[in-house]
Amino acid sequence: MERTYLMIKPDGVQRGLIGDIVSRFERKGFTLIASKLMVVTREQAEKHYAEHHGRPYYDDLMSFITSAPVFAMVWEGDQVIALSRIMMGKTNTLEAQPGTIRGDYAVHTNRNLIHGSDSPENAVREIGIFFEPHELLGYTKTIQKWI
Ligand code: CDP
Ligand code: MG
Repeated sequence: MERTYLMIKPDGVQRGLIGDIVSRFERKGFTLIASKLMVVTREQAEKHYAEHHGRPYYDDLMSFITSAPVFAMVWEGDQVIALSRIMMGKTNTLEAQPGTIRGDYAVHTNRNLIHGSDSPENAVREIGIFFEPHELLGYTKTIQKWI
């Protein structure tokens, strides 16, 4: 069982896509164990996107992600890290297939609606940036006994 950090960025919040995006992951069969509408601080943004420091899009990314509320979430499930990345679609919107979140709704790579952790190590790291341990409310679904 894995956990991942997913975040609907300010464009997704303001376009009214929280419900649609949450619904996709619920219907897939993953379990939401934490969520909150929050404004990302500069410090959190710098930690979260540390590996992108110095890239041409970095300044825009920093100012955009801290500009308005995001919807931060932790999801749990088998292979949720890789499967949620597939459901999000590719980073480059020209490569994001229809049927994925970015493929269905995003036009620009720098306004691509959603973040998702890309590895188990980054999932743990990113969850720790945005949530306190006591905010993670993992629980067992009774149907899991038969899956
Ligand atoms: O979000 P994802 O993991 O798919 O992509 P990334 O390569 O880790 O890049 C992080 C974020 O930087 C992207 O989601 C975009 O918001 C932004 N970005 C951009 O604006 N232009 C690029 N050429 C690459 C990334
Ligand atoms: Mg990434």
